[in-house]
Amino acid sequence: MEVNNVSLAAVGVKLEQYPDDNKPEIAFVGKSNVGKSSLINGLLNRKSLARTSSSPGKTRTINFYNVEDLLYFVDLPGYGYAKAPKSEIRKWGKMIEDYLYKRESLKSIILLIDIRHQPSNNDKMMYEWLKHYNYEIIIIATKADKIKRSQLSKHISTIKNTLGMSFNEKIIAYSSMTKQGKQEIWNIFDDLLGIE
Ligand code: GTP
Ligand code: MG
Repeated sequence: MEVNNVSLAAVGVKLEQYPDDNKPEIAFVGKSNVGKSSLINGLLNRKSLARTSSSPGKTRTINFYNVEDLLYFVDLPGYGYAKAPKSEIRKWGKMIEDYLYKRESLKSIILLIDIRHQPSNNDKMMYEWLKHYNYEIIIIATKADKIKRSQLSKHISTIKNTLGMSFNEKIIAYSSMTKQGKQEIWNIFDDLLGIE
């Protein structure tokens, strides 16, 4: 898709605050700081539409980005951010769970994993959850600029093997610095959306 018109459509923490026009949603999940908000900016050709930060725990609400009036990209708070008060962490957990379990317009969930690291237990749980609920598995291995090109396939294999991915499940290396992988990701989304 060629993206020109994007905007922040809604910011919320509970279902009543989310858009009610039933456009399909693609949500991005993953550990705090993995690069969810940066990926959204990269895919939408915007530098700072979604707020990013070098310290984890930046995104704390559920943010809906209207893409060409066709769909929403949904930026979620990351998991595994331990520095916040326990009560806050519980609230975020509940907010994310409610969204993932109950949101009818949620069509795809993209799991982001830092290409440098072996998937964590939380990543594995998320992966298993996606499979259990029959979501198509699409993993984005972020921060690909941080490893040597010659090491790329080794890192991708580590992620695949740790999660136990099967051959038909997708994994794409992406960098928000070089935009490597961007076209491949859009091709997948265009397919999901049925766009020529
Ligand atoms: P939370 O909102 O806390 O869950 O984090 P997030 O997953 O939205 O991460 P965010 O996009 O805010 O990025 C975290 C940090 O990683 C920022 O400093 C980004 O600039 C950096 N970053 C994100 N993607 C990449 C990438 O592909 N390459 C490099 N080198 N840095 C990246
Ligand atoms: Mg974020």
